[in-house]
Amino acid sequence: MLRISPSPKRRVAGGLAVVALTTLAVMVAASTKLRSEDRVPGLTGIDRSDDVIAARQLVMDGIESEMMVIELALEGNAPQIDDLKARADRISTLLTAFPHLFPPQTKPGVAADGSPINTTATLAIWQDFDAFYGIAKGAATTAYDATQAGTADKFREQAKKLRGACDGCHAVYMKVEPPSPP
Ligand code: HEC
Repeated sequence: MLRISPSPKRRVAGGLAVVALTTLAVMVAASTKLRSEDRVPGLTGIDRSDDVIAARQLVMDGIESEMMVIELALEGNAPQIDDLKARADRISTLLTAFPHLFPPQTKPGVAADGSPINTTATLAIWQDFDAFYGIAKGAATTAYDATQAGTADKFREQAKKLRGACDGCHAVYMKVEPPSPP
């Protein structure tokens, strides 16, 4: 009598072959994906990681310049609140962009060629990125709230809060070098 269905033994072997082929297909797909990610233009974390770090440091330097003017003006007698609000607005914009400049290739450590990766950011950022992201967002909101202050006193209050946000974030997410002796 003709047997149409394969023997149980062959069915097991066939099943194993399917599993092996599927595994192979997944592995090939994964490695193809990895390789193609390397080649996709625009993934600047991969091929321009030094520039990404420099960009986020420049963003912070821009924030610092605005903040310095705000704080100095608030110490003076007649701060021009409208000008200071425009500066707070720029800080808010920059703080909104900032946390998007942290691809994993820019973690502190040693680059493939043995050179140190030039960042003062701490690993804590990548260990719980959502926490870092939330803090950056909160600081951007604080800066924005300063732009909405109805009175000079309210603005002053928000500026203090913003300074607290800078320092609070740096305490955890930036490794500050001790000042070198003169
Ligand atoms: C959400 C976290 C966060 C907030 C908020 C924040 N910073 Fe930073 N800041 C960082 C990190 C992280 C670095 C290190 C960047 C690097 O070296 O890759 C940094 C670096 C800096 C630097 C050094 C830049 C350089 O050239 O290396 C300055 C100056 C600075 N911040 C000023 C400020 C000021 C002023 C504020 C508040 C108005 C502020 N930051 C708010 C996280 C923050």
